[in-house]
Formats: sequence, structure tokens, C-alpha cells
Amino acid sequence: MAADLHATALELVAGNRGILAADESSGTIKKRFDAIGLESTEENRRAYRDMLFTTPSLEEWVSGVILYDETIRQSASDGTPFPQLLAARGIVPGIKVDLGAKDLAGAPGEKVTEGLDGLRERLEEYSALGARFAKWRAVITIGDGIPSDLCIHANAHALARYAALCQEQGLVPIVEPEVLMDADNDIETCYDATSRTLRAVFHELWLQRVDLQGILLKPNMVISGKGCPTQASAQEVAEWTIRCFREHVPAAVPGIVFLSGGQGNEQASENLNAINSLGPQPWVLSFSYGRALQAPALAAWGGSADNVEAGQSFLALRARCNSAAVAGRYSAEMEELARSS
Ligand code: 13P
Repeated sequence: MAADLHATALELVAGNRGILAADESSGTIKKRFDAIGLESTEENRRAYRDMLFTTPSLEEWVSGVILYDETIRQSASDGTPFPQLLAARGIVPGIKVDLGAKDLAGAPGEKVTEGLDGLRERLEEYSALGARFAKWRAVITIGDGIPSDLCIHANAHALARYAALCQEQGLVPIVEPEVLMDADNDIETCYDATSRTLRAVFHELWLQRVDLQGILLKPNMVISGKGCPTQASAQEVAEWTIRCFREHVPAAVPGIVFLSGGQGNEQASENLNAINSLGPQPWVLSFSYGRALQAPALAAWGGSADNVEAGQSFLALRARCNSAAVAGRYSAEMEELARSS
């Protein structure tokens, strides 16, 4: 069992590949569809995921896909259930299992992620549906006097309880503590919040006997807040990020798969490339992007069957660029070549 968990975790970060996060909850996907003027019906959500998952050659750059509860039960247009379609392509199906970030009592402006009640039974069902890994996202907010120790501790505790239950069920837990980049803080503040968070998360994982060789960490990069007047360069992001992770993430963890968190599409590739250009690290450093892989594909598709190929070509471009960034071989020219071809 432990050997299977280790093998799945390694498979998810092998061959310069990364993960496509396509696990938007019904509320989040509605927001994305609203932005392109598309109604969020079950069929539109299915057709959108069908477009993404049938992208030619996707398995060259993408090792796993995170699904949502509705999506793992849906099928491609030819009737093949999505988990089977992905598995047949050599892409590991995964599942978001948290039930969202809710206001944390006693901590104004901060959130705690819910979903532990009944989780063992839900994991059994997802495993029977074909999932081999899972995801739980905790949200840490930077602001005046926050994050609090209370918020960090409550989220770290829940992440570790989730991770232990996943491993019991044979699913690799993706442990996602996201320090948001939405404020106007500088990069050093992000470094401090990320350091405190990771320290608490690994302490809880240890307390709750989680096997670190059978997890993947999905963190934010150490980066300037969106509203900060001085934005750190890709080189600075890479240096702060590697410093933070070398200080806090044990070498037993096989892979760190970053979230994009609101970075621009090309910025997310550039930063990942800079991180991987700093030389060998104890863990593979790859991606588990949602918006930074999907945004141009969603816009090009726009809900029309006529635009399926256009949407797929944008997903393929972003996936190829990010896979190159894992190898430290991404360059802005890859974007130009793709645009002109
Ligand atoms: P973003 O890359 O859009 O941040 O999404 C990743 C994710 O899965 C958040 O939980």
C-alpha cells in the first residue's frame, strides 16, 4: 500500500509533467462562465471538460487531472466516463474533496476549510469511481495582523487529518495550503506567511503520521501581492521561493506542484522556469495550475462546438510551456512560435 502511494506520487511528477486543476466547484465555474457570457448548465460544464480532456497529446505534458464531484460522474460525448477516458490516456484522475473555505469563528477576515465529516466514506466512493489522488485547499489571507496563528493552526490540522484519511484509502493527498496573492503586501511578507504556514503544516503532518513520500505539496509561490507597487522579478520570486521551501519542506516529499493563484498565464510559466533554473532541488518542482492552464482555452472555446479545436490548441500551448518550465527550458519564443504557427 505504501509502495503504491509512493509510486502514484512519483508518477504525477515524472517526465516534466504537471497537473491540470479542472476541479472548479459549481460556484467557481459559474464565475468563469459568467466572464465569457456562457450559462453554467450541467451540459455546458460537461462539454467544457470534454473539450479539455480530449486535447490531442495532452498526456505529453499533463500527468494528472483534478476533477470535481460532478465531473468525476460525467462522461465524454462518446459515453466514456471521464476518469476512464483520462486513465486510458495515461493521465491519473484525481478529485477535489474539500467542501470549501468558510469563515473561521473568532478570526475576522480568515477562513477554515470544511469537509472532514464523512470524508472516509466519500474517499471510498471516489476511489471506486477511479480517483487515485485527492486535493484539499486551505486558504491563508494576508492582511492587517493576519494570518493569525489560530487560522494557520486550524487549517494545518484539517489538512493533516484529510491527508491521513486519503493515505488510509490508498489515495495520494495533494496538500494545498494557499497563501493568497490578492493583497498589496511585498514579497517578504509573503515569505513570512508562507514560512509560518509550511512549518505548521509539516508539524501537523508529522503528528498525524502522514507518510511524506506519499503526498504532493501544492503551495503558492513566494511572490508579491497583486496590489504591491513594486513587483518582484521572476528571478526574485525564484530565489525567495526556493529559500522558503528548502527551509521548510522535508526532502522526503517527492514533489511540489505550484498553484497559479491569479498570476498571468505567461508569468506562471516564467516564474516556474526561473525556479527550475536555480539548479537541482530535493523535490521535483512542477505545476498544478487551474487558471494559468485554462484561461485562454476557455476564452477561445466560448461554449461553441465549432471552437473545440481552438480551445484545445490553447490548452496544449500552456501545458507545453509549463512542461518546458519544469525542465528549465521555457522561453518567451515558445509563445511567439505558437502564435505564428
Ligand atoms: P489556480 O492555478 O487557478 O490557482 O488553481 C489551482 C487550484 O487548484 C486551486 O485550488
